[in-house]
Amino acid sequence: MPLTAELYDYLIAHSAERDPVLSELAAETLTRFPAAAGMQIGPEQGTFMTLLTQFTGASRALEIGTFTGYSAICVARGLSASGKLTCCDVSEDWTSLARKYWELAGVADRIDLQLRPALETLQAMPATETLDFAFIDADKTGYIGYWEEIVPRMRPGGAILVDNTLSHGRVIDPAADGRVTLVLLPVGDGLTLARKHG
Ligand SMILES: C[S@@+](CC[C@H](N)C(=O)[O-])C[C@H]1O[C@@H](n2cnc3c(N)ncnc32)[C@H](O)[C@@H]1O
Repeated sequence: MPLTAELYDYLIAHSAERDPVLSELAAETLTRFPAAAGMQIGPEQGTFMTLLTQFTGASRALEIGTFTGYSAICVARGLSASGKLTCCDVSEDWTSLARKYWELAGVADRIDLQLRPALETLQAMPATETLDFAFIDADKTGYIGYWEEIVPRMRPGGAILVDNTLSHGRVIDPAADGRVTLVLLPVGDGLTLARKHG
């Protein structure tokens, strides 16, 4: 069934109410960075990510591609009380807005922002199975490299989300990776959800 504008409005209207902090963040992102604002995830994806983080009981999470911090708030809110989210980005400008809204959302103390190429941050992380949740949403050419660094660091049963997997073709070949079970969902422009085998 094609997702028309009317159906999308219906979908939003029948999902969780939008949080005022997230709505303000989306509005300020559009005002300050109009050319880049389309990179932000949609509200239904944000709620989905909070629920998924809660369902998996995640306490150790990772995000590759933070922009102005919308998805990071959604993940951080779903973490357990002592949870931590490592955010990777290279833009001081965009993430300065993220820091402002992380304070407003009350999640700043659970987020560690690493401002350098994500591959460097990943390679500096312990090579043990410590991550419960990971979200890949950065430069598309880097996806395979991020995937290969992330999968060995996921705990068995951990969840990996990969964004834009319909609009950017097959960034991950499920048949070629026996370490995960994977589904491509029609959320946004394609959202792949993978579970590392337990
Ligand atoms: C699609 S946006 C992320 C959107 C964000 N998840 C949200 O919900 O608002 C992609 C981000 O990846 C960042 N990025 C691009 N190349 C990167 C790299 N090599 N390492 C880390 N971040 C990178 C960009 O600066 C940009 O903020």
